[in-house]
Amino acid sequence: MIAHETTPVPQYAEEVILGLTSPHKTLPCKLFYDEIGSALFEEITRLPEYYPTRTELEILRKYSREIAVSAGSPISVVELGAGTATKTEMLLRAISWRQMRVKFFPVDISPSALSEAGKRLRAELPGALVRPVIADFSDGFHFLNGISGRKLVLYLGSSIGNFDWNDAIALLRKVRDQLCPDDALLLGTDMVKSPEILVPAYDDAQGVTEQFNKNILRRINREFHGNFDLDSFRHIAEWNPECSRMQIYLESRKPQVVTLAATGTTVRFRAGERIHTENSNKYTLDMVQQLLCVSGFRLEQSWFDERQWFGLHLARVN
Ligand code: TRP
Repeated sequence: MIAHETTPVPQYAEEVILGLTSPHKTLPCKLFYDEIGSALFEEITRLPEYYPTRTELEILRKYSREIAVSAGSPISVVELGAGTATKTEMLLRAISWRQMRVKFFPVDISPSALSEAGKRLRAELPGALVRPVIADFSDGFHFLNGISGRKLVLYLGSSIGNFDWNDAIALLRKVRDQLCPDDALLLGTDMVKSPEILVPAYDDAQGVTEQFNKNILRRINREFHGNFDLDSFRHIAEWNPECSRMQIYLESRKPQVVTLAATGTTVRFRAGERIHTENSNKYTLDMVQQLLCVSGFRLEQSWFDERQWFGLHLARVN
């Protein structure tokens, strides 16, 4: 018996095959974050070129008190896509200055990240009540409904930028539908800036981002018994000014045929043909305002770093 007959094919097989056999090849960006990919992303956040993580942290460091005052109290904090919730600590601290006990609900698809978040925050902030929620956003945001009292929903890291405009609106509307008039949303967005800063952030000198991008092929090789040769693909990061986004690709260096034995799929590449792996949308303040407005929110206040590279926006339900 050959190995691939005994190994179950992952549930996203259809998405992968459809993506690789369409005229404009794509792969779903959620596949980046296996164990190796998550570690590589952590490494990306520490690169000198990758400014978003440390810039958002700088804003939180400087304005957490102000944000806490504007959000109002008492309030419970819900963080969508919390991961290990490393950025949230400062805000929780600022909120716990203003109220007895702050309840924190970190929401993520990854149980291991959530348990790390829980462990760390319970040690760092003994006054906080940490209640992790394991959820997949594609199943909606009904868990928000079960949290009583006033809520502040955090969606940080410009994760919203990984959705196309209409999908971002759909997501924010779904969040909005579970909130009450006093609740607030704190949205992190990466702002439009010079391509000289944007492009290196997605194509660093050490090649960590290249490894991160190519890890998607390594994962497919492993899970679908594929034979992608990672060296035959080039990492590409391009700024698209019309769409206001960074576009990330893997480009075939030569004509080649790749097979995924687990599904019996053959994928042909021309030289220079690309697989689109990610978009990272960048916003102006006008775009943020519009995005929030059409999603049923009203922008109340924005905080930026000195260079206005990144923004944190507090919005209320309309
Ligand atoms: N989605 C994140 C971002 O837009 C993560 C990311 C950083 C990323 N570098 C990348 C995704 C390179 C794909 C390729 O910042």
